[in-house]
Amino acid sequence: MTKAKHSRRTFLAMGAGLAGLGLGLPARAQTRAPDADVLVSRGGAIEVDLEARFGPTPLAGRSARLFSYGGRVPGPRIEVRPGDEVTLRFSNALPEPTNLHFHGLHVPPTGNADNIFLEIPAGERLTYRFKVPENHPAGTFWYHPHLHGLVAKQVFLGMAGLFVVRGELDQVPEVAAAREQFAVLKDFEVAGGRVPPPSPMEFVRGREGSLVTVNGEVEPEWSLEQGGLLRLRLLNASTARFYRLKLEDHPLYLIATDGGALEEPYELDELLLAPGERAEVLVRGERKPGRYTLWALPYNRGNGGMGMGGGMMGGGVGGDARPRPLAHLVYAGRRKTPLPLPERTGRVPELGAPVRRRRFVLGHSMRPGRGMVFTINGQVFNPSRIDTPVRLGTVEEWEIANMGVLDHPFHLHTNPFQIVSRGGRRERLRAWKDTVLVPVRQSVRFRVAFEDFPGNAVYHCHILEHEDLGMMGIVRFEEGA
Ligand code: C2O
Ligand code: CU
Ligand code: CU
Repeated sequence: MTKAKHSRRTFLAMGAGLAGLGLGLPARAQTRAPDADVLVSRGGAIEVDLEARFGPTPLAGRSARLFSYGGRVPGPRIEVRPGDEVTLRFSNALPEPTNLHFHGLHVPPTGNADNIFLEIPAGERLTYRFKVPENHPAGTFWYHPHLHGLVAKQVFLGMAGLFVVRGELDQVPEVAAAREQFAVLKDFEVAGGRVPPPSPMEFVRGREGSLVTVNGEVEPEWSLEQGGLLRLRLLNASTARFYRLKLEDHPLYLIATDGGALEEPYELDELLLAPGERAEVLVRGERKPGRYTLWALPYNRGNGGMGMGGGMMGGGVGGDARPRPLAHLVYAGRRKTPLPLPERTGRVPELGAPVRRRRFVLGHSMRPGRGMVFTINGQVFNPSRIDTPVRLGTVEEWEIANMGVLDHPFHLHTNPFQIVSRGGRRERLRAWKDTVLVPVRQSVRFRVAFEDFPGNAVYHCHILEHEDLGMMGIVRFEEGA
């Protein structure tokens, strides 16, 4: 089943690429080895060999010297099921240290599991091992490096891959009948076949590249049957770029957020994805046959003038001044009986009353000898300081307040949360999130239940440059008394 999906995906991708080059080769001959792009667990286990590499890498029909997993951007998609044992033999062929983080997975943050405090030096290997809990929700998760100080650089240079948990949502009949399309949104900057280093100011604001790709391609075309459904599974794998998505003439029916399924589809006209966030939407093939564009609309993620270097820049920060086409949906074929939207997509139980409330203030300041730093409650990250000890088995309510001049997407490892309010307004949608946008001068409240896994993990801004510049803290999950 997955193989069929894979070869169709590759077929379309290769077809588009070859059409662009004007080569008349049969697409089948160009199909890559099936297991190179998608690695699927079997019989309750998966073994993956993953190598971090630096070198010429195919990107948008050309080649650039990038950092990658296995020589491709994005890295291979890993697919598991609840209860699976994951063994990932990782080797670091980069000229610098790195490590791995499994973003959004509810697995131990310690040992050789989702432990971001591990460091794998250049040329060394490490085997990651963890079990996906039996009750883990289905969803779109991802992996990327997480070595403090190098995260933004390594992700910007190309390191990111999808980590998918298949489960109940995949069995909802209408969802199962939909055509599935993954979309990893990622920007790059390439000049003369390599990625130039960012300027200090670019880094402080969060680096954005002018080459915007979807699954490593520019403006791919996807097919949709008239009367059919497309299940679009989106990841923002950019370090800093936001994507304000709008699909021409089609509403988006949100069915899942970061942590998995919603209770029912939720109709959206636009969808804003900040770095680190994921969303699954259904698209109905309900228009007349044609070609419809998925746009990224302009979005201003802060004020580059105020307090961020004085009069040198001013105006807004981020994105493009005009709408940018990301991909195109092309109608092909027709269903006699149109597929309906699902009525229910899952269950999102409401979290109980919090035993404790905390407040986190996001800010920035100038530090002598360090330049601009980003802070949480006035402090920069310190790997030997436990900022937030919490009790396993309890629910807390956290308020994240942004007192800075740039938007900050706040991310918490290991345990997903439910947003309670934004800017003082109650959140209508009950959903599992692990990353939430906290816009300038606004605050967001969420509830989180700390469950299962003791140990240290982190929370941080998912503009990865800000994380590297200090906007991260350590949460310690402690066993109850
Ligand atoms: Cu996707 Cu701590 O990050
Ligand atoms: Cu994460
Ligand atoms: Cu930030």
